[in-house]
Amino acid sequence: MNAHESDADVLERLLASRRSSRGFRPDPVDRATIDRLLAAAQRTPSWCNTQPWELIVTSVEETAALREAFAADGPGGSDLEFPPGYEGVHADRRRDVGWQLYEAVGVAKGDREASSREMMRNFVFFDAPHVAIVHTPRSLGTYGAIDCGLYVQSFLLAAEALGLGACAQAAVAAFAPTLHRRYDIGDDRQIVCGIAFGYADPDHPSAQFMSRRVAVEDSVRII
Ligand SMILES: Cc1cc2nc3c(=O)[nH]c(=O)nc-3n(C[C@H](O)[C@H](O)[C@H](O)COP(=O)(O)O)c2cc1C
Repeated sequence: MNAHESDADVLERLLASRRSSRGFRPDPVDRATIDRLLAAAQRTPSWCNTQPWELIVTSVEETAALREAFAADGPGGSDLEFPPGYEGVHADRRRDVGWQLYEAVGVAKGDREASSREMMRNFVFFDAPHVAIVHTPRSLGTYGAIDCGLYVQSFLLAAEALGLGACAQAAVAAFAPTLHRRYDIGDDRQIVCGIAFGYADPDHPSAQFMSRRVAVEDSVRII
């Protein structure tokens, strides 16, 4: 850290440097670092301070076992409804980041087999040593899920600050039946998403791009 950096400088730097990691070194993250990450993320705000997030965090061995369970079971459906489709600027932005990723990892436009292979890497958690599964009470509905979204961002930023790589994964939520069964998560709770994490492999081709954002003026009207 630069001695002249203000809190705002540090926050802006972390927000600017964080990116989704889709390539990891196999080394486990030591328990003290995981505990620090979780303690930082636990400070996330939530409506009425309900703190509805609960997590399963897997060891290297359990991550490997979960990969096998996913391969054996296949996706059985998600608790939260996935968007039925993307339209307009949202479709454009989705396509743009997809092409950035495919270009980085060498998938040619229109190569459906290679793009499907890349998509399937979701289900091995991009070879991350750990995955966190975030779940929330069904009864808290949309706002419980929003609280979990805030939690995910805290987790991702804390991971960045601790020198870890991470990738939020809605794709993991498509295996909700496997996750409920394997971790004894009651039907009164919904799986929100997974977060693959570990030490990012800086040499992995997927690390070679930074996703773009639209101008603030495209998102905000100040009245
Ligand atoms: C709730 C949520 C779910 C996501 N699910 C996936 C996923 O299933 N697979 C994936 O590769 N990336 C997933 N991402 C990562 C986004 O694609 C990524 O955040 C976005 O493209 C911006 O890129 P950046 O994280 O590198 O800034 C998800 C992100 C969020 C916030």
